[in-house]
Amino acid sequence: MNVLDNLQKIKEIDTGGMLDTEEKFYLQLLDARKIAGEADLEKLKGANYKGIVFSGMGGSGFTGDIIKALIKDDIDIPVEIVKGYNLPYFIKKGWLVVSISYSGNTEETISTTNQALERECEIVGICSGGELEKICISNKKTVIKIPSGMQPRGAIGYLFFPAYLMLNNLGIIDVSDEDVEEALDLIKEKAELYRRETETDRNPAKKLALQISDNLPIVYGQEGILGAVACRLKCEINENAKTPCWCNEFPELNHNETVGWERLKDVTRKFIILILRDEDESRRIKARIDITSGLIKDNVSTIVNIPVEGKSKLAKALSGMYLGDITSVYLALLFEVNPAPVEKIESLKAELKKIK
Ligand code: F6R
Repeated sequence: MNVLDNLQKIKEIDTGGMLDTEEKFYLQLLDARKIAGEADLEKLKGANYKGIVFSGMGGSGFTGDIIKALIKDDIDIPVEIVKGYNLPYFIKKGWLVVSISYSGNTEETISTTNQALERECEIVGICSGGELEKICISNKKTVIKIPSGMQPRGAIGYLFFPAYLMLNNLGIIDVSDEDVEEALDLIKEKAELYRRETETDRNPAKKLALQISDNLPIVYGQEGILGAVACRLKCEINENAKTPCWCNEFPELNHNETVGWERLKDVTRKFIILILRDEDESRRIKARIDITSGLIKDNVSTIVNIPVEGKSKLAKALSGMYLGDITSVYLALLFEVNPAPVEKIESLKAELKKIK
């Protein structure tokens, strides 16, 4: 029997309960929506913000990527992403800084939050506690507190919905209830299909993990939400399956990476290309994907097209991400690797703490 259908074996490997977190993602989203609805946004209301900046790293930082991709075509103020220690110079008084750190202790996010305070920006912290919560409370800034005790990347529902729906509740964007319901219904349906009890022959997430196996995955997205989802999948494969993986997006990759497939065939024959597809993608993007696939197919082991499902952008973003997230957990289990721990990140953070 394949390990992915061996429930006892899964239990033995996944001691951190990462698969359980994924299987309960629908419930997490429902709870996250409730937290978003109950958040006290009084201090943030009534301002005409000059722009919004999302500051966060890793699993927390992805929240900004996906929200920016979702709203950029409908918002008339700039939306910036900061993944590092410093806010750009132009972010000043009048901007809304959304500081997102699941632990609340990520030093880059603490640094940008302190800069935002110095520049008298409005701030909202989204965290499960830690230093970020303390800074926000002592400076009378808004905090949206989410449940603790999870891996940050596994808490993406808790990070995403409060940040996204907050913008709706402040009147900055308009999120349709219909889109939220569609996304939730789709996740609920997929949770049933992807759960451990659904055997490999009927389970698309297990099938995809088996297809990847010990090939090196390269994920290609497209400009917009699927670009963000592609990078999320790369990070999930890195962190859950402890496997190298890289991402890029159409059309940009056609201007550099496509040429790079010319050499090192012996190495790249162990690569698998995962291309995220959208039935609404433009004709030119479709043509680019078809032509590129033809150009590189002999240099890699396989090219797998992964269609995202859903009508709205929100449903596509969440369902595309969900398939990737749970696939990366199955990939870890296939290698008999415990998906939850990220020892290298922990030891790096501990080493950095010693340096003043
Ligand atoms: C770990 C993970 C990491 C963290 C990152 C930042 O599960 O996903 O990428 O998200 O190290 O830490 P937080 O999210 O606590 O600010």
